[in-house]
Amino acid sequence: MAEKTNCKYVLKAEGLVKVYGTTVKTEVLHGLNFSVKSGEFTSIIGYSGSGKSTLLNILGALDVPTEGRILFCGEDYGKMKPDELADFRNKNLGFIFQFHHLLPEFTAIENVLIPTWISGVSGHQREKMNRRAEELLEMVGLKAFIHNKSTDLSGGQQQRVAIARALINDPTILLGDEPTGNLDTETTDQIYDLFRKINQTYGTTLIMVTHNDQIAKRSDRIIELIDGRIHSDREKAEETRADVG
Ligand SMILES: Nc1ncnc2c1ncn2[C@@H]1O[C@H](COP(=O)(O)OP(=O)(O)O)[C@@H](O)[C@H]1O
Ligand SMILES: [Mg+2]
Repeated sequence: MAEKTNCKYVLKAEGLVKVYGTTVKTEVLHGLNFSVKSGEFTSIIGYSGSGKSTLLNILGALDVPTEGRILFCGEDYGKMKPDELADFRNKNLGFIFQFHHLLPEFTAIENVLIPTWISGVSGHQREKMNRRAEELLEMVGLKAFIHNKSTDLSGGQQQRVAIARALINDPTILLGDEPTGNLDTETTDQIYDLFRKINQTYGTTLIMVTHNDQIAKRSDRIIELIDGRIHSDREKAEETRADVG
């Protein structure tokens, strides 16, 4: 498998506690510890309200823990200045959500290029990014739909565009919060095939929240949260891991 970074553990969560509220305080994560290996495909499962989104947002530096810290290849998110953190996130982390959040008036390729408009690439770099966006859309199976408006695409196709968009900056980690929560079983299956392909082609580390236990079995590792605690953490043996066909 292609490895993206030199560090063995791309993420380490140490003593993560999350408390919401100021007057009425609710602790929703109660001191989580785990590490994610570079190139690993992890699912986070658990009932609604168990803290999956809260955890994913903290892992993705979209939210901060009340106590504890996250290390990315040994580097503490909490020590980065806000603009450093924004830059770090843009370069190293890709996000996909249950709803694709594509811009309806734009084509598939324009939607994929949006993150590069934000980081302000120019000239020669722009050409390179255009080619990369085309390659990514081909990789996610949308070669024939590159210039279609996103509203002309099916739900599964729109989610594929969102996946290509999340990969445009070649992130080390791709994080998804119930990315197939809105899709039928067959489309969900196809999207998970695509996740495996991304994992094997680019060596991307994947962390996917799902409440679909069956689909979670397709990843290398399943972390189950119950009431803000890690109830189980099961890793498949290397030799039984799925191979891309
Ligand atoms: N912004 C917030 N303010 C207060 N409570 C929150 C907030 N976000 C989530 N919660 C609470 O934290 C708990 C965990 O929520 P969440 O992380 O969304 O769980 P899941 O994604 O597993 O459904 C729930 O009880 C939820 O109501
Ligand atoms: Mg959630």
